[in-house]
Amino acid sequence: MNLNNRLKKVSEMVDPYSSFLDIGCDHAFLDIYLARKKEMDFKKIVASDNKEGPLEQAKKNLEKYQLQQNIELRLGDGLDVYTTDIDTVIISGMGGRNMIGIFKKNLEYLKTIETIILSPNNYQSDVKKFLVKMGYFIKDEVFIKEGKFIYQILKFVKGKKRYTSREYFFGPILLTKKDANFRDYYQRELKSREILLALLPKNYYFKKRKVKKEMILIKDELEKML
Ligand SMILES: C[S@@+](CC[C@H](N)C(=O)[O-])C[C@H]1O[C@@H](n2cnc3c(N)ncnc32)[C@H](O)[C@@H]1O
Repeated sequence: MNLNNRLKKVSEMVDPYSSFLDIGCDHAFLDIYLARKKEMDFKKIVASDNKEGPLEQAKKNLEKYQLQQNIELRLGDGLDVYTTDIDTVIISGMGGRNMIGIFKKNLEYLKTIETIILSPNNYQSDVKKFLVKMGYFIKDEVFIKEGKFIYQILKFVKGKKRYTSREYFFGPILLTKKDANFRDYYQRELKSREILLALLPKNYYFKKRKVKKEMILIKDELEKML
């Protein structure tokens, strides 16, 4: 089975021998791909979604690959389906604020979740700030190109680390790599802020100030790459 670049990168962040829950599994391609990697020897694989349609499709896909015994499907909202025998939670392909909402709804489960792997479509720095506040540090983060989009894939592990506001904004590990994806990603971020600034009404004073401040930060960081 061929995974797209984004899900492949997510799969590479999952530790062998772990027991993981993939929230918002949709077709369950990620879980099928991982379950077929016998050398990873996962203790448990659970794929969940809050809608019946995607889970029906996931069920058909499990049957196709004869993995009904290896992957458990659960229907429910976010961490409502979590059980304490799971040490790793994966959420990919959702908005960052949606992800934060999923954790906030069941904060007590963070006690037994050691590793969190996320691919938020937006609000990445809010996600990082939230999980660091909850007692995790950023173990890995990477940009990955998929068609015309560039995604961030993030891995959090239990532990304490402090970050500067610049590191939260750009990502502490992404800042050390600063590759072509970093440049392309922030050139686009700059462009989208320019458009936003032109569209914001005059009385949005604080929002405009925030956007302008971020534009200066981005320009500075891009200039350092020249
Ligand atoms: C865009 S798809 C992403 C699928 C896959 N994870 C990926 O990265 O390609 C988002 C999936 O998350 C599910 N979803 C959205 N909110 C959810 C929630 N609160 N709990 C569980 N699943 C959710 C949707 O039904 C949908 O199947």
